[in-house]
Order: sequence, then structure tokens, then C-alpha cells
Amino acid sequence: MQFNNLLVQKENNLAILTINRPAALNALNADTLHELGQAIQMLTEDQEVKVIILTGAGEKAFVAGADIAFMQQLDPIAARQFALTGQMVFNQIESCPKPVIAAINGYALGGGCELAMACDIRIASEKAKFGQPEVNLGVIPGFAGTQRLARLVGKGKAKELIFTGDMIDAQEAYQIGLINQIVPHDQLMDQTKKMGLKIASKALVAVQLAKRAINEGLEMPLEQANYHEANYFGLCFATNDQKEGMAAFLAKRPPQFQGK
Ligand code: HXC
Repeated sequence: MQFNNLLVQKENNLAILTINRPAALNALNADTLHELGQAIQMLTEDQEVKVIILTGAGEKAFVAGADIAFMQQLDPIAARQFALTGQMVFNQIESCPKPVIAAINGYALGGGCELAMACDIRIASEKAKFGQPEVNLGVIPGFAGTQRLARLVGKGKAKELIFTGDMIDAQEAYQIGLINQIVPHDQLMDQTKKMGLKIASKALVAVQLAKRAINEGLEMPLEQANYHEANYFGLCFATNDQKEGMAAFLAKRPPQFQGK
């Protein structure tokens, strides 16, 4: 599939999805969101792909937000629809069975920060900068930033960042739990691929069920979530990889997982 605003590369069991509008710091317009949805769908169905890495083209930005020039001409109904469309695509990323890792190479602002938060894991260059600057434009986050930021860093810090519009550096983002790791800028892709390959080497169904158990469980009361976890735990025993993993451990040899 050919895209105007995205690049898709595959290597080993990884897919690298790059938002490619560097002249606009990879800002998200409706076309780019639409393509992102299509690409995630395509990679979800691609049996060769076990882990997806999401990054931004160029040296400066992961994604500098929703496209302000595009948003400027929207009426309230169209603006609401734009927010809902973005939320739908970001939900698709969050519920994609395959782990999605954000490799944050620069600015992750507004919709860019929201996109990173929809990913499972966030690895950032030391040069990355984060923020929800929507109040500077007379609006609020609309791609679920009010919700995902509060869930990731807590209500107080989320309100501070969203009310002030302040930008924070990678160090502060790490301290508040917004990102998983900071790496030197020139090692960002190597380190992200390393984590991606490590995850890809594990029992595929187990990783996918773990993602579901965490995401779905967080929306449930604890007792129900724990029961849900036990059901998925039981389901793992329907896979060859469970038999192989446990047999390999007891035989003191490395496992040979088949992904089923
Ligand atoms: C459209 C953007 C853009 C954006 C940058 N550009 N961000 N275009 N939408 N979000 C464009 C600039 O207009 C400029 O185009 C080019 O990219 C380079 O940007 P500069 O501003 O010249 O670069 P620099 O001085 O280095 O500043 C970088 C920056 C700044 C700090 C990231 O660009 C900035 O503040 N951008 C806006 C960030 C923002 O407010 N994001 C939140 C958007 S609201 P030209 O043609 O002049 O070269 C949002 C809502 C989400 O995301 C929810 C929607 C429902």
C-alpha cells in the first residue's frame, strides 16, 4: 500500500511506521490520520509483523500536534468529528493486538503527545520535548489527551501541563512517568528496535493477551479484572508456545517459539 504522509518499512519481525510530513513537523491532518488508521489495520493483519514502531520523519519532531492550518477552518461540528476520528485511530493503536512502541525523536506536542500516549511503550531521544499546548490556541486536547495524560501521570500533573501549556523535556517526562526510557539521540532507533526484537522473540500469544489483560483490566473493577486475567492465563495453555516454554525451561534449553 502506498501512502502520501507515511513511510512503512519492515525488517525482521518489526514494522517501522514513520509519520512523514517533516515540512510541517509531521502535524496530523485528516488525510494523515486516515492513512495511519489504514496502516495500522494493514500491519495488524500482516503475519510477519510482531511489533510496530511509530516515529516521526526528520530531526526535529515526532509529531508537533494536529495540523493547525487544517483545524483553523473547521466549524464546531467538523472539529468534533476531527477529534472523534483521531480518537478512533488512536484507539485502534491502543487496541492493536501487536505491541506498538513510540520512538520519540523530537517534539511530541498536542496531538503528537496524545499519539505517543496511545502507544504501549514510549522511548524518547534526550532531545524530545513534550506538552499539551492547546490552551495557547484557544482549544483543549481532543485526541483523548485529557484522559490518557491523567491516567499516565495523575490528575494533578495532567492539569498542570494542560492548563499551562508548558513544554517539558525528556528528563521531566521520564520523572513524571510519561515515558519509559530516555536514550541518546543517535541511538534512538537502535535501542527501540532492540526492545522491539526482544518482545518479538517472546511467546506471541502471551504478549498479545498480556496487552489485552492490562488495557481491558484497567477499565474494570479490580476483582473483575483479576478474574479476566485468570481467563487469559488459562487461554495461554491452548498454545504450543506455553508447552514449549515450560518444557524448555525444565529441560534447561532456550525455547523455540512458533507464535501459536
Ligand atoms: C501545522 C505546524 C505545526 C502544527 C509546526 N508547524 N507545528 N503546522 N500544525 N501543529 C509548521 C510551522 O508552521 C512551520 O511551517 C514548520 O512547521 C516549522 O515550524 P516552526 O514553528 O517554524 O519551527 P520552530 O520555530 O522550530 O518551532 C517548533 C515548534 C512550533 C515549537 C514545535 O512549530 C510549534 O509551537 N508548533 C505548534 C505546536 C502546537 O501548538 N501543537 C498543538 C496543536 S493543537 P512553515 O510553513 O512556516 O515553515 C493539537 C490538538 C489535538 O494538537 C487535538 C485535535 C482534535
